[in-house]
Amino acid sequence: MTLLNDLTRIFGDAFEQTGLDRALGTVVVSQRPDLGEFQCNGALPAAKTTGRPPREIAQDIVDRVQGDDRFAVLSLAGPGFINISLTDSFLAKAMQLVIDDPRVGVPEVRPRKVLVDYGGPNVAKEMHVGHLRATIIGDSLKRIARFLGHDTLGDAHFGDWGTQMGMLIVEIAHRNPELPFFDPAYTGQYPAIDITLDDLEAMYPLVSARCVEDPVEADRARIATFELQQGRSGYRALWQQLHDISMAAHRRDFASLGVEFDLWHGESTVHERIGPMIERLREAGVVTESEGAMVIAIDEPGDKTEMPPFLVAKSDGGFLYSTTDLATVEARVDELKREVLLYVVDARQSFHFDQVFRAARRGGIAPESVELEHIKFGTMNGPDGRPFQTRKGGVLKLHDLISMVTEAADQRLSEADIAQEYPETERIEIARQVGLGALKFGDLSNHRTSNYLFDLDRFASFEGKTGPYLQYSAVRIKSILRNAEEAGLSPGPLVPPGVDTERNLLLHLARLPEVLERTFELRAPNHVAEYAYDVATQFNRFYEECHILREEDPARQASWLALVDLTLRELHLLLDLLGIEVPEKM
Ligand code: ARG
Repeated sequence: MTLLNDLTRIFGDAFEQTGLDRALGTVVVSQRPDLGEFQCNGALPAAKTTGRPPREIAQDIVDRVQGDDRFAVLSLAGPGFINISLTDSFLAKAMQLVIDDPRVGVPEVRPRKVLVDYGGPNVAKEMHVGHLRATIIGDSLKRIARFLGHDTLGDAHFGDWGTQMGMLIVEIAHRNPELPFFDPAYTGQYPAIDITLDDLEAMYPLVSARCVEDPVEADRARIATFELQQGRSGYRALWQQLHDISMAAHRRDFASLGVEFDLWHGESTVHERIGPMIERLREAGVVTESEGAMVIAIDEPGDKTEMPPFLVAKSDGGFLYSTTDLATVEARVDELKREVLLYVVDARQSFHFDQVFRAARRGGIAPESVELEHIKFGTMNGPDGRPFQTRKGGVLKLHDLISMVTEAADQRLSEADIAQEYPETERIEIARQVGLGALKFGDLSNHRTSNYLFDLDRFASFEGKTGPYLQYSAVRIKSILRNAEEAGLSPGPLVPPGVDTERNLLLHLARLPEVLERTFELRAPNHVAEYAYDVATQFNRFYEECHILREEDPARQASWLALVDLTLRELHLLLDLLGIEVPEKM
């Protein structure tokens, strides 16, 4: 039972007793903390339906809940708002329940089967900052969904079935025509090719530029892609090797970000579904032929601009990004039984997802009961205001980015004289954790749809709204608890708060369930980031005022330690939900 739910139940009862709808009893955190901690505004809509003056209704409600020893303040304001403050003893009792709950007061939701599609790197292409944002945001959403109790899967959805594969096949054939992959009559074992990830990544920009310039090459690549998709064995064997090399590298990259997927599927995973899917949709009259291509009409009556038909297969029979995405919806619904599909992908792909989702509805691939959602995000920009690039203008390799943030963190640690006394290896590990914390928090503290400036100096600072500040706060709280333990002190039952900073911290910690619920509802981890920062600042205010080790009343001292411990648990959880590690010590 969360605090707000508890209050809402009490006010709901009161509305019901006066013959009104109990939903009017909704209690929210107050916009005017000077007047009360919470408020209930149900009297205003009640006045509209009953014709009674709103203040009279509000007074009636106040009279009914008045005797309850939970409330210290119940006052009317304006046209009929009810301001509410809790008694110290009720607050302590409510928060004791939170302390005793392993889930720190967060109820488990009615579970749904969720899939988060995020990351989405492409085989043989470098991971660019768009994939980085998708990874950071998607991973946080997955963690939050899972913590709330949803049955959640994360899928990397590799781009591994497009024209770049055909281009690479053509290029390798140019360089090594003698390899058996290109001989259609070959029936033996295929050799392991001698190619590194660097070779592969260097090859892609060359071949894609060449295909732009040279229509003959472009046609070769198109045909190779088609034949690969159709199952030409040498191409499939070569593809498998390219795929595996790239996959291994992406796995390493994700691991260094602390990101683990449940499914490492890709566009190619659904290949076998495509033929039967198109056939079925054709029979149903959903897919029709248009100038040799296969399309689905997806226009809707309310469309303001013309919606072109969705292309399922090109006139040469080749499949596209759209095709694999449609078949992937089918796999996720039919095979994985998912009820909520969240696609964490760059906002610039809005049109694509609009099309895929419409086609999925038209084709009955995703019934209305399945939620399909594009979780859009903006760009991470460099100082020039354009999507972040290296100084040379290329895409930044994730590995290099991580080295960069680790170095920045290391420098900040030394400037702030933090963790300097530890052995080199430990310090480097701390710098790595802090660097990633800076990077992730720098991203997640912005609303996902806004573009933001990658400002490493600011992100890596130990002051302000940053990952390192929160990590340092958590580590400091750990050491407070350690010191107390060494002094023979341990947490005890909460006693009613004596000062405002203590009370505010308690009230703040009580908001966790609502914050998490809202964050997931809005698919916006920035609310968790914001809240974590508030928890840390409220804690610091409390800690400045309440000198725990010097406190003379043992009951109050033990209660404070319990509050410190609860703060640490919440902060740890919040950072974990953002994908940020807390160093053991600093
Ligand atoms: N590979 C794609 C890209 O680099 C992103 C994939 C996103 N997921 C999806 N189901 N389309 O743009």
